[in-house]
Amino acid sequence: MKNYVIDDLPDYFKQYKKSIKNPKKFWDKVADENFVWYQRWSKVVSYDMENAKIEWFKNAKLNITKNCIDRHLNERGDKTAIIFEPNDPKEEAQHISYKDLRDRVCKMANVLRDLGVEKGDRVCIYLPMIPELAVTMLACARLGAVHSVIFAGFSANAVESRVNDCGAKVIVCSDGSFRGAKSIDLKGIIDEAVEKCPTVEKVLVVKRTGGEVKMKEGRDLWLAPLYDQAPSDFISVIMDAEDPLFILYTSGSTGKPKGMLHTTAGFMVFTAYTFKNVFNYKENDIYWCTADIGWITGHSYILYGPLANGATTVIFEGVPTYPEPDRFWEVIEKHKITQFYTAPTAIRALAKESYDWVEKHDLSSLRVIGSVGEPINDEAWHWYNDHVGKKKCPIVDTWWQTETGGIMISPLPFITPTKPTYATLPLPGIQPVLMDDKRNEITGNQVDGNLCIRFPWPGIARTIWGDHQRYKETYFTAFPGKYFTGDGALRDEVGYYRITGRVDDVIIVSGHNLGTAPIEDSVNQHPAVAESAIVGYPHDVKGSALYGFVMLKDSGEDRDRDNLRKEINGVISDTIGPIAKLDKIQFVSALPKTRSGKIMRRILRKIAEGDFANFGDTSTLLNPEIVEEIKNEKM
Ligand code: PRX
Repeated sequence: MKNYVIDDLPDYFKQYKKSIKNPKKFWDKVADENFVWYQRWSKVVSYDMENAKIEWFKNAKLNITKNCIDRHLNERGDKTAIIFEPNDPKEEAQHISYKDLRDRVCKMANVLRDLGVEKGDRVCIYLPMIPELAVTMLACARLGAVHSVIFAGFSANAVESRVNDCGAKVIVCSDGSFRGAKSIDLKGIIDEAVEKCPTVEKVLVVKRTGGEVKMKEGRDLWLAPLYDQAPSDFISVIMDAEDPLFILYTSGSTGKPKGMLHTTAGFMVFTAYTFKNVFNYKENDIYWCTADIGWITGHSYILYGPLANGATTVIFEGVPTYPEPDRFWEVIEKHKITQFYTAPTAIRALAKESYDWVEKHDLSSLRVIGSVGEPINDEAWHWYNDHVGKKKCPIVDTWWQTETGGIMISPLPFITPTKPTYATLPLPGIQPVLMDDKRNEITGNQVDGNLCIRFPWPGIARTIWGDHQRYKETYFTAFPGKYFTGDGALRDEVGYYRITGRVDDVIIVSGHNLGTAPIEDSVNQHPAVAESAIVGYPHDVKGSALYGFVMLKDSGEDRDRDNLRKEINGVISDTIGPIAKLDKIQFVSALPKTRSGKIMRRILRKIAEGDFANFGDTSTLLNPEIVEEIKNEKM
């Protein structure tokens, strides 16, 4: 990324203005000056928002692995591309150079091709956070196969539905995975799933834990012997700009997961550009995103975005609390991390621990710290700012989605003054608009509404695999001519955006629209509260009333709970107003969360409504046992 680096706030406004006036020219230049192409595009963008048909860089030819690996070899061949930090801190970290990465990817691409994988075939990847995960994804991209990573924590049912939906020919998995003190039998889960997956011809197994596995004759193969014999050269397949790069499933709040399809050139250009600017990436920085590659954050900002910039990126196999709750801080100190990118759920969990765990470590290498995945509440923001960033590292609160492919709204470090809980300003090329329920655009500042995007950007998903109609209906129908994010947002007096939560979660109390995020934010300001989730339930007088599920920092056994309830409502009254006071407050030992760390409000809403009959798809739930407990203690 030589060009289009934003220098300061006036430069941001200048570039932003230009990018909006002429988005085609803007992205044309970014694409032209920063990547290697076999052939240039004939048209920058064509789009039909009514039918949800979007194409970027039409007729361009490229291979993303040329951009992420080969082109760096002259200048950065010996530079570390990937640092692998294993689950067990006693196991040595691996430093994989760009040269080494190229060889590994070529070998893996040869193995896959020998198994019959061809351009356009789907390969499902069910691997823990080990180097082979990145290598397999890049190998697919090198040979033109479409990868679909399934988070290696999903159940056999969840795997089966995803594999069948995309019709994968090959699955790459491991014998097992290490997570903290546990090891998990991944191959057993695959065996159960594949029984019901008729398209799968081969299962390629990476050895990680050395656990006992059953290998099915004719179907299952160990990777090692094939990999060892494979040549370390593989000429990358020439891909069209709009050829599929990957499918990634995102769970809708109802119905079956949606296989979001991202294509090659647009995804590459968008993730590379946003990575460079949002993380203020400089040569020799060591960047660490703690997400799992099984989520979009890992695809865009562990793998493709950083590698397209020739960066050093960390793959961390473990969990934040193993062997002790200072693992993140230890890893930052050990590898001298310069950019650290994590989720509010992790910040809140670690903020519950003693501050001594952070204090023990030298975090002075950090320059930029980031947050993604959920609204970050005020208390967590300050804890992160004070204790991790030491008030000198800007927090980039990045708003985006699986569907957007990359970051859309975020402060630019050292450029955009940050404001707690605000994602602040859109990146160049991104045009957010707020719409009211009557489909009118809400102009001006100090307003709130449904967050839509006006013009396509290169990273937008092109369709839902096998169901374009659903894609169109979900994102392009509610507000014709615009992409609807499903999120609500407010724009403050200077034009900063704050995401207020999913609009499905908006609660109307006595005619007032209340987003869940600001109320949770307020509840979490009470010193005893670790985390909370607010939902609505039907109320005769108010239409809806508010029900709060609150998790305390300690067990709360010694506390006067009624008094605590009063205090929490007192904080809400002071910060938002009495309208947002909670009618019921139930103390819980944990909140039901998806495996990517988001609170599953849908289930809590059902519980609050007293509807225990059908909780819908709970296959993505991390802690299903908590649902029973919360149900039993319902108020
Ligand atoms: O509601 C928004 C929330 O997460 C949703 C997207 O989730 P997913 O597709 O899983 O992607 C997560 C990683 C990009 C959004 O619609 N969200 C994400 N980031 C933020 C956020 N809400 C508030 N602030 C954020 N920074």
